[in-house]
Amino acid sequence: MKRFMKYLKPVLTTFLVLPGLTLLSQEAAAVAPEIDRPIYEELGMSPTALASIMVIFTAILVGFVISLSSSAKNILEFKRSKIKGGMKTILLLFGISMSSELFAATETGSTDYLVSFPDSAFWTFFALDVVLIMIILYLTGIMRGVLSEYKVPAKINLFAKWNKQLTDVVPIEEEGSILLDHDYDGIKELDNNLPPWWKYGFYVTIVWSVFYLFYYNVFNVGLLQEQEFLTEMEEGEREVAEYKRLHPVLITADNVTLLEDASSIAKGEKVYTDYCKTCHMENGRGGAGPNLTDNTWIYGGDIKAVFKTISDGTSNGMAKWSDIIKADEIQSVASYILQLDYVAPPDGIAPQGKIIVE
Ligand code: HEC
Repeated sequence: MKRFMKYLKPVLTTFLVLPGLTLLSQEAAAVAPEIDRPIYEELGMSPTALASIMVIFTAILVGFVISLSSSAKNILEFKRSKIKGGMKTILLLFGISMSSELFAATETGSTDYLVSFPDSAFWTFFALDVVLIMIILYLTGIMRGVLSEYKVPAKINLFAKWNKQLTDVVPIEEEGSILLDHDYDGIKELDNNLPPWWKYGFYVTIVWSVFYLFYYNVFNVGLLQEQEFLTEMEEGEREVAEYKRLHPVLITADNVTLLEDASSIAKGEKVYTDYCKTCHMENGRGGAGPNLTDNTWIYGGDIKAVFKTISDGTSNGMAKWSDIIKADEIQSVASYILQLDYVAPPDGIAPQGKIIVE
């Protein structure tokens, strides 16, 4: 029974990791912000660059997991535990290879990564990396536990070696040797070295600063903050203009312009025939509604005023057309009306209103 329990844990872990991975990637894709542009474009990278980064990062993580697992295997063998040597490792590796196969399966059908790197692939990598990091943390935890219980010679234990190299800690039993001689109300100080992992990080920032200086301030390859801001604002304005062009519903009485191209006038004429002709008659000569071809208007005769009258309607017989037709249709029908030829009485209705537009 006990033996069975020992197998149970790694098996359970593997089976939790597998569906977890699929779920995670789906979940991640679902909560991903809805953007029209693919992620690599959003990040300003080529699909190849983003794909390479994701692949390399994932490969590094897989490398970590494998070396941690083999380290764990060595320790387990060292312990001569009743469980066969690297059972856990094998199961874990099996789990990982299964996951990558799963990953491959989700992605078949789009082999041309380099032309485009689909968002789904990005999120799958992302989820895979999260899972790998969790596995690494889990393995690290196990290793710490095992190490604190057993004294394992460092030469067979890569993890302990790294740990020693990167933290440079003095084991607790030898702390006496680095104890400083001052004592504040019983609080003492150890003369530990700076942790090498921290020092290396610091060196990296020094190297980085040189690169940064030359990149931004000496060779002016990268844009400085202000310039970057201005460029982004320009880009933003271009996008807004493009959006407005593609979404004519945003046309309002304040920004509407007179359209003069033949296709817009034709579109306006169609709207007029469908909705307006019954009252304003053909050619806009007027009937139940006023003559739309003269230069006398009740509500104003420039494009903005006409657009507003049609959109909002009036209390005297004009419907609120913005409820019935779209803003771009109102724009084109208004433009159509404004280019109509004058139909004088008696064919046309006599002028109404006080606003004269020359
Ligand atoms: C049910 C009949 C009817 C229909 C349909 C109708 N109108 Fe009118 N329209 C009127 C009446 C009546 C007035 C005068 C309203 C007032 O005096 O308040 C008017 C006024 C107008 C005016 C203002 C004229 C001025 O001198 O300021 C414009 C512009 C106009 N209509 C355009 C249209 C357009 C474009 C359509 C089609 C989308 C349309 N109308 C459909 C009855 C109609």
